[in-house]
Amino acid sequence: MISTPAPLSQSETAGGAITVDSLGMTFDLGKQSLTALAGISLEMKHGEFCSFIGPSGCGKSTLLRLIAGLIEPSVGTVRVDGEDAATARQKRKFGFVFQDAVLLPWRTVIENIELPMIVAHVPKQERRQKAKDLLDLVGLADFAQVAPAKLSGGMARRVAIARSLVLDPSILLLDEPFGSLDEITRQRMNVELQRIWAAERCTAVLVTHNVGEAVFLSDRVIVLGARPGRIIAERIIDLPRPRTLEMIGEPRFFEHTRQLSGVLLSGAVVGAESDA
Ligand SMILES: Nc1ncnc2c1ncn2[C@@H]1O[C@H](COP(=O)(O)OP(=O)(O)OP(=O)(O)O)[C@@H](O)[C@H]1O
Ligand SMILES: [Mg+2]
Repeated sequence: MISTPAPLSQSETAGGAITVDSLGMTFDLGKQSLTALAGISLEMKHGEFCSFIGPSGCGKSTLLRLIAGLIEPSVGTVRVDGEDAATARQKRKFGFVFQDAVLLPWRTVIENIELPMIVAHVPKQERRQKAKDLLDLVGLADFAQVAPAKLSGGMARRVAIARSLVLDPSILLLDEPFGSLDEITRQRMNVELQRIWAAERCTAVLVTHNVGEAVFLSDRVIVLGARPGRIIAERIIDLPRPRTLEMIGEPRFFEHTRQLSGVLLSGAVVGAESDA
């Protein structure tokens, strides 16, 4: 079940490769401190789809924020294509769909998608075209002028994904993007996300509580254990692509979810890759 990633070749490291080395994060809470993550080491290849699962509070969102260079680690390093995470962020290498991503209610759908491009000073005509292309990509071409309040939950999530892609990120970070959706809508969104990821050819890092979602989408699923958050298991998902909803009923899909759920439930430390 556990495998150590092979060293990356030069071609594999071009655009969107992530190296995390002995990463730890301790928050200062005044009189005490809280170690949210410890001893996290891993590598992600360009174009890989990698998911993190683990109990609430084990540090999944913190790990995504560290990878995105939004916060500085207490110890260890994050390198993106050989550069530190903050530099990669300045170069706009990341698209981020936050756990609590909200659309601005006073802007239309297309204006919400354009927003990061306005901040990045992309000329008006170019950003309008890009936003239209992305609305097409997420299947919402007819909803450009609609207010976010008129969208269903699944549609709003698709707008948030489109917005994260506007600056052509080489890495897409997704923090429970479909957490609030019912199971059927979530499965449809998983098919959509797989298609978008394949079209964009980016590295994807997904945080989810849903084991089936992680298996469906990922090349590799990494399980984090709590207190402090650390890697307790890793599983390669060798199912062929593109994955279909029919595959969810197949024994080989079930075997992946069964094994991963077992690790999650038991909290067993199966060949921990690193620990502090
Ligand atoms: N800015 C902060 N200051 C202090 N503590 C923090 C901060 N951010 C996160 N933490 C703590 O770090 C731990 C990990 O939080 P994090 O949000 O990364 O967990 P999570 O795995 O994403 O949880 P969930 O599944 O509920 O979203 C928690 O104990 C949380 O209280
Ligand atoms: Mg979280």
